Amino acid sequence: MDVTYKEGTDVETQQLDDLWAAIGWKPRGWEKWNEVLSKSSFFYTGWDGTRLIGTGRIVEDGIMCMFYDIGVHPDYQRQGVGAKILEELINRVKDKGYASIALFAWEENPANIPFYEKFGFVRTSGMELTKYMRPE
Ligand SMILES: CC(C)(COP(=O)(O)OP(=O)(O)OC[C@H]1O[C@@H](n2cnc3c(N)ncnc32)[C@H](O)[C@@H]1OP(=O)(O)O)[C@@H](O)C(=O)NCCC(=O)NCCS
Repeated sequence: MDVTYKEGTDVETQQLDDLWAAIGWKPRGWEKWNEVLSKSSFFYTGWDGTRLIGTGRIVEDGIMCMFYDIGVHPDYQRQGVGAKILEELINRVKDKGYASIALFAWEENPANIPFYEKFGFVRTSGMELTKYMRPE
């Protein structure tokens, strides 16, 4: 398999939402994707030809940063695509001296904890104000 990777937000909403649906996540639509991507400092994608097969993005504020939307199409999982995307995100921030480099591990996927631990992530005590949240 010849996967290529690219940086930047030049991706069609339909491709993003198709990938989201394949993973089992709720499609976001143009307006939300536009806002999400414009507020991200880095967006990285994996491609099989013209087919979008993986994503990852960073949100940062100079002191802290979060990784979001790390996802690989089920047809392409366990072939190193997620690792390449996560490595790229880590490389972008590892030397910036941040007080926090964090992510939320989606609990419905048992692969997540071993995947992130392999790259050095450790569990901490995050909390969320769920009563005001609208889950995706
Ligand atoms: C989590 C996810 C991004 C991993 O991507 P991937 O391309 O399949 O992962 P890789 O092939 O690069 O795997 C890298 C390493 O992670 C670990 N890993 C990945 N999938 C795993 C699984 N199902 N079980 C156990 N370990 C796993 C392994 O250590 C693996 O290395 P190895 O294959 O040499 O053993 C992918 O499973 C995914 O998109 N899942 C659905 C969406 C999701 O849950 N995203 C995370 C949101 S927090």
